[in-house]
Amino acid sequence: MRAFAVARAVRGIEPLVAAEIKKLGVVRRLRHREVWFEAPEPGPDLLGLRTADDVLLVAAVVDGVGPGRAALERLRRAAEGADAGTALRLRRTAAPPGGRGRPVEARTASRASGDGRRPVEVSATFVGRRSYSRFDVEDAVGAGLSRALGVPYHSRAGGVAPPPGAVPWRVTIEDDQAVIAVRLGDRPLHRRPYKEDSIPGTLHPPLAAAMVALTGLADPGRDHHGRGAGQVVLDPCCGAGTTLAEAGLLLPRARLVGVDHSPASVRAAAANARRAGVALTPVVGDAGRLPLPSGSVDRVLVNPPWGRQVAAAGLLARDGGLLWREVRRVLAPGGLVVALTGDVPDGFRVERAIEVSLSGRHPVLTVLRPARRRR
Ligand SMILES: C[S@@+](CC[C@H](N)C(=O)[O-])C[C@H]1O[C@@H](n2cnc3c(N)ncnc32)[C@H](O)[C@@H]1O
Repeated sequence: MRAFAVARAVRGIEPLVAAEIKKLGVVRRLRHREVWFEAPEPGPDLLGLRTADDVLLVAAVVDGVGPGRAALERLRRAAEGADAGTALRLRRTAAPPGGRGRPVEARTASRASGDGRRPVEVSATFVGRRSYSRFDVEDAVGAGLSRALGVPYHSRAGGVAPPPGAVPWRVTIEDDQAVIAVRLGDRPLHRRPYKEDSIPGTLHPPLAAAMVALTGLADPGRDHHGRGAGQVVLDPCCGAGTTLAEAGLLLPRARLVGVDHSPASVRAAAANARRAGVALTPVVGDAGRLPLPSGSVDRVLVNPPWGRQVAAAGLLARDGGLLWREVRRVLAPGGLVVALTGDVPDGFRVERAIEVSLSGRHPVLTVLRPARRRR
């Protein structure tokens, strides 16, 4: 059965998400933080999308949703008339209870009653100023879905968490168009099961996956086993190892090296990699003097410690430029760097820059190549 679906994305990387989706379906449209697509045979592989934050199965697209409060009644009616039953049936076949993305507590609930009889919870987001809140939208759509499906709706308005096993519905509104959809999995895709260990300033996994996509090694056309064959991928400030876990999952044949000044970060990276089933060489070291031979690395992925949450330590605390001198030294001919930085470091040229928007900040995904040395 064909599914009309929406992938949610970090603002700025929608085209990278669309490129990943092309393996599984036909991309119809890009919106703010969304890629709309049709999947001819929706299956659990949709839950394997790495650059998307989430995948939703659409029950209704509602036009004429203006900024005034009249929009709420329009949304309630649309939810009541939406084809919620079909979206839930698709969800059951594409992501069966007990399968990938459907955790134990939800499995128990759905075995007992089926998705169609589980309570609903709704989470809404919109772009632009409106004279209603996200909770108003959630309650309007929740009331409509509750009536359509004959199940209770649990509002988040009072700050009460929805009961385990509630079916997660999403509403997104841009301009005057709303989408009412059910989440494919029971939890958002960006919450990676491997990422139990974390550090301050750790990277959002879909952004890390986007960095891997920008290495050019994760070409969807290559066969899975060939991807990254023999290539050495380094993160010189690896933190909890998010870039390398994602690299290992997208490039199963790459050799992954994670360096960090903090032993606790290196331990976190090693534990996350183990859970992800990825072979990582973890190294406690200083990115200002990398313990690697010159010309030995094909790709560098890095989110340097100049952010608000993480301070540079060791040699980088005195001279941040050492990071880039070392990265340049270890890069093999033809190598490139994908960094989360707005700066153009000395000795590199920018091949591509994508500004993203995440939690109120606007880092830049930058693809850097060593510049030719001046004679
Ligand atoms: C922004 S965090 C990286 C987060 C990482 N990408 C993740 O997903 O968890 C920056 C990291 O740089 C490390 N760091 C700071 N100074 C360093 C140095 N001189 N050499 C290597 N790592 C350093 C910090 O310990 C921290 O883990």
